[in-house]
Amino acid sequence: MGYTNIVEQSDCERLMKDIQMRRKIDHRITLRKLVMFCALLTLFGIIYFGYICSDNRCSLSYNPKPTIYSEWNVMNLLSTNMSDLKSSKNTGTGVSYNDMQNENQLRFDMNAHDVMVFLHVQKTGGTSFGRHLVQDLDLQRPCTCQRKRKLCYCFRPSRNENWLFSRYSTGWKCGLHADFTELNGCVDSELDKNEGKSIKRRYFYLTLLRDPVSRYLSEYKHVQRGATWRMSRHWCGGRTASLEELPLCYNGTFWTDVTLNSFADCPYNLAANRQTRMLADLSLIGCYNSSYMNQEERDRVMLASAKRNLLSIAFFGLTEFQKLNQYIFEETFNLRFAVTFTQHNTTLSAVYKNLLNYEELEKVKRINALDIELYEFAKHHLFRRFEKLRTKNSNFKERWAHLGQLPSQTAFDWEKEVETEAADNEVNYT
Ligand SMILES: *[C@@H]1O[C@H](CO)[C@@H](O)[C@H](O)[C@H]1NC(C)=O
Ligand SMILES: *[C@@H]1O[C@H](CO)[C@@H](O)[C@H](O)[C@H]1NC(C)=O
Ligand SMILES: *[C@@H]1O[C@H](CO)[C@@H](O)[C@H](O)[C@H]1NC(C)=O
Ligand SMILES: *[C@@H]1O[C@H](CO)[C@@H](O)[C@H](O)[C@H]1NC(C)=O
Repeated sequence: MGYTNIVEQSDCERLMKDIQMRRKIDHRITLRKLVMFCALLTLFGIIYFGYICSDNRCSLSYNPKPTIYSEWNVMNLLSTNMSDLKSSKNTGTGVSYNDMQNENQLRFDMNAHDVMVFLHVQKTGGTSFGRHLVQDLDLQRPCTCQRKRKLCYCFRPSRNENWLFSRYSTGWKCGLHADFTELNGCVDSELDKNEGKSIKRRYFYLTLLRDPVSRYLSEYKHVQRGATWRMSRHWCGGRTASLEELPLCYNGTFWTDVTLNSFADCPYNLAANRQTRMLADLSLIGCYNSSYMNQEERDRVMLASAKRNLLSIAFFGLTEFQKLNQYIFEETFNLRFAVTFTQHNTTLSAVYKNLLNYEELEKVKRINALDIELYEFAKHHLFRRFEKLRTKNSNFKERWAHLGQLPSQTAFDWEKEVETEAADNEVNYT
């Protein structure tokens, strides 16, 4: 009996040990599974956020602004007396022209955390202006341009940080020909990402507008030559516009065979009133959702927002007045260009206009009515700004006569460092 007891006991002990053993193993296996799972999750996370999803949409730091159409915002906007516009507080437009002109003289400081952001509207002469910015400014530390990458490093004198956000410096980081809405919600996080740290920066927006009929016809010609700008994101309210909101105007890859009439007839063609749309804060009108408010109200709010932004950003110029642009830019930023901006033959637009008959011209004007009003508004304010600057400067005649000539002839030739023609060949990206 005692023997069997012992046997039973030892059997039991063995069994117990066995069970304990197995539990331990099981435990280890679960632990290992858990660790494996965590490692995989981390790896996936790194790959997902780092590589697959490296644009804004998924950036961990991206913080989409709510697109809630606020009655108050719009009321406020529409009741703003544009002539009274003093500063850009709460408009998200960065440092304003007025802020820079006032007695307190908010100046662009390349050694601080100031960044110029170039809003490049298609076919406004932005390519030349963008090149002037990287090639021709008389800087303590000029941009260094790389032929192969078609990009220039425009760094601050003291640190390797960008002071210029544009196609030729940072590239289309916020999307191809990003508009105000896209830049406003993206530049800061892109620069944070680029520089690996989050700092408080001041933004100085720059843009050019062009006579709307000429610009529209120029865009039409460009589309006939194969441009589509299909890569544009039309990002607003934390997402890109859907295909329902922004249907394509054509089947196939290109729209090269389009006639002016069908170009103008497509209601989703973003060429019409492009300048107004690209300058406005689209979150005010529910982005690309056209059922958010009726067409008339959409237009009214969009135009008011574009006008406000135009006056509140640091600099705007008009393609037709290159010398004024140059003078105003130089005085505003206290920087000098080493070249004179060339005035493209404005009779070119006359050539375009001669291609149209009366009905066609009227149609182009009708579908660009917002841009035409915006342009007239811009022209009025450009001349006013110029007059003010001119009378303020006792040395104006001398300055004006020698625009584009540096006092100390440290003439440099950036021309050979930047490919001038190649960039033009990227039809889809101009
Ligand atoms: C806007 O301001 C201008 C000039 O300061 C003034 O003449 C005009 O009456 C104002 N308009 C409104 C609606 O307040
Ligand atoms: C594209 O092709 C389809 C089918 O042929 C046609 O129904 C549609 O209207 C076309 N869309 C455009 C924008 O041409
Ligand atoms: C567009 O706006 C309407 C009206 O506010 C809303 O009912 C609808 O859900 C919106 N559509 C999308 C895709 O957000
Ligand atoms: C501008 O273009 C017109 C027509 O093409 C031409 O006659 C004129 O000479 C040009 N002017 C300049 C300054 O190039």
